[in-house]
Amino acid sequence: MTEINANYFFQDGPDRKHPFLMLHGTGGTERELLPMAQFVNADSPAIGIRGRISEQGMTRYFLHNEEGGFDLDSLSKETDWLLEQFELIAKKLKLKPEDFTVLGYSNGANVAAYSLLEKQPKFKKAILYHPMALKATDKFLDKSGDKAWLSHGDKDPICSIDNFGALTSFLEASKVDVTVFNHPEKHNITRDEMVNSKKWYEKNL
Ligand code: MLT
Repeated sequence: MTEINANYFFQDGPDRKHPFLMLHGTGGTERELLPMAQFVNADSPAIGIRGRISEQGMTRYFLHNEEGGFDLDSLSKETDWLLEQFELIAKKLKLKPEDFTVLGYSNGANVAAYSLLEKQPKFKKAILYHPMALKATDKFLDKSGDKAWLSHGDKDPICSIDNFGALTSFLEASKVDVTVFNHPEKHNITRDEMVNSKKWYEKNL
């Protein structure tokens, strides 16, 4: 039988119909996004799961390959593990996996966007701060009904404008309802960006 083996964090809240799954950036922890979750909906229960990969001492959700690109086998395997752990933890806490909104930053946003494109996660809504496309694809699943809010910085040294454009077009080709927020800065999250994500969340409850 599969068991919970992830490092996870849980903070309960009274709005049990609208829980968050928090996915951290490279080097982060399962608690990293709690202030953001509380900003978006202070009443939501929030689960954070730590990526089980460590590269140069930094936590991640999947490995790089030797050339410095993304290891797609690791990406697929670790995403399956993450989604399985998410469902087990949600059920243990008596929360419905399909009620969750993902809140992901950078590496965590990447694995969430990849899940929407390539897997069948139970969550249908995602707030993705600075995600990128991890692989090119021309095969699209039908994800009608899924909704994603995505942000990007015009001067982001990690995610190019072209890569971000590719990600939004892949999601749209999968029929995900996509909303984009741009700022003129880098990979950082701004106050306006947080406010915009909260407005989107409230509109799409
Ligand atoms: C990744 O590795 O997922 C991206 O480069 C973003 C990050 O640095 O975490």
